[in-house]
Parts: sequence; structure tokens; C-alpha cells
Amino acid sequence: MNLKEQINTDKLPNHLAIIMDGNGRWAKQQGFLRVIGHENGTKSVREVVEASAEIGIKHLTLYAFSTENWNRPKIEVQTLMKLLVKSLKKEIKTLQDNDIKLNAIGCLNDLPKKAKEELEEVIEKTKNNSRMILTLALSYGSREELINMVKKLSEKVKNNIISSDSIDESIINKHLYTQNLPDVDLLIRTSGEQRISNFLLWQIAYAELYFTSILWPDFKKHDLYTALIDYQNRERRFGKTSEQLS
Ligand code: FPP
Repeated sequence: MNLKEQINTDKLPNHLAIIMDGNGRWAKQQGFLRVIGHENGTKSVREVVEASAEIGIKHLTLYAFSTENWNRPKIEVQTLMKLLVKSLKKEIKTLQDNDIKLNAIGCLNDLPKKAKEELEEVIEKTKNNSRMILTLALSYGSREELINMVKKLSEKVKNNIISSDSIDESIINKHLYTQNLPDVDLLIRTSGEQRISNFLLWQIAYAELYFTSILWPDFKKHDLYTALIDYQNRERRFGKTSEQLS
């Protein structure tokens, strides 16, 4: 049985999130500039997006650019933004053909005008697609998202729109960038680093974490299948005991 056939499509993560790490190290290993690593990273993005939709994952969220990434050398930031625009232009057809709806989370106003416009255009054009929601986290930082949420809620309390007693998980969810997305079930991080790096801190409360040493440009379909099989062999207890679950 090949890897794909071993996946139980009734037990897929409803929301898969990925920290795509290791582009720079991949490039260094090959003796290339870091930007070549990012370019090759976009090939893995394409492959993982297509494979996820094909297998039946409903929500895929990719950490494409963090708020901290603005501190990288200017040339690298510019290249990443150019790659984003180029990929959006090139992949709109793939998104349409695969019935994928594009979404974005983060401080999108920080993006260069061209990137923001291209992003908005693809979001608009794919808004009626329904097979999978692909969310790009761009200029995203979880603490910033949480601060925004607290500010919005305190404003509402101050103006008597809601009472502080009514604040619960569902109200908090509605005030995050991820307001229309379910909690993350599986979080993958490539490149061997085992940390969360300010990504979806609230949303991963009960997520299964999967770390692989594979560098992002080398992460291909079969690596995704391996991660999904690993996920399906875990027991998700959500605080309960094994006995309560069975
Ligand atoms: C981490 O590798 C990767 C990024 C900061 C950016 C991820 C971007 C892409 C895969 C390409 C563009 C994406 C889209 C959606 C078109 P790193 O540079 O931190 O690697 P290192 O830790 O080895 O230096």
C-alpha cells in the first residue's frame, strides 16, 4: 500500500497549519543565495496546497511572512514580496481549477501596495470556491492579533455593546483574524526547529504538533502524507482520559 492509500480520509485534520521553515538553510547547503531557497519554497507551497485539496483537507494555513520577518535584510524582504505577487498571478488558475478559496490573515496594511492589491484581487476572484480555504499568514504575529482582539473587545465593553461577563471563547474567536476558521488540529513545522514562533497561539490550544527535520523546499507530497499518518495514529484526548474516549 502506498503512503497515500494508508491515509484515512475520515480522520483528516479539519485545519492544518504549517510553519514553512528552512529555505535559507536549504539554499546555503546548495551554495545558493537565500532568495533561491524561497523561490524553491514556493514549489513546495504549490505541491502541498494541491495535495491537501486533493486529499480532502478543508482548511490549510501557511505561515508565509511574520511580523518579525520585516527585520530581515531589505533585499530578502523585497524578494519575498515579489515572490508573493508572482505566485499569486501564476497560481490563480491552480486555485480556480482546484476550487480553492484564498484568505489572508495578518496586518495586511503593512504589505507593499502591489502585494496587497494582488492579494485582494485573488481573494475576490476565489471567494465562491469551497473545496478548501487556503489562508496565507502575511505580516502575521499572534501576540499582535491578540492585542488587537483585546482592544476591540474593550472598546465594545466601554461602549456598552457587550458586557464583560459575556466574553467567552466564541466571542474571542470572532475578534481574531481567524474569525471564520476552526481551531488548528495539526501544526507542522519543517527544518528541525521545535518552536511555535508567535504563530496562532490561541488557535493551536489542542493541536497536535509535528516537527520534521526536512527543510521546506524539500517538503513534498509524501512528506505531507507521512505527517498525516502520524497524526492519525495519535490519541487526541482534549483533557479527557483514554477510557472516557473509548
Ligand atoms: C522560512 O525560511 C521561510 C520564510 C520566512 C518564508 C516562507 C516563504 C515561502 C515558502 C515563499 C513564498 C510564499 C508564498 C505563499 C508565495 P527561512 O528563511 O527562515 O529559513 P532558515 O531558517 O533556514 O534561514
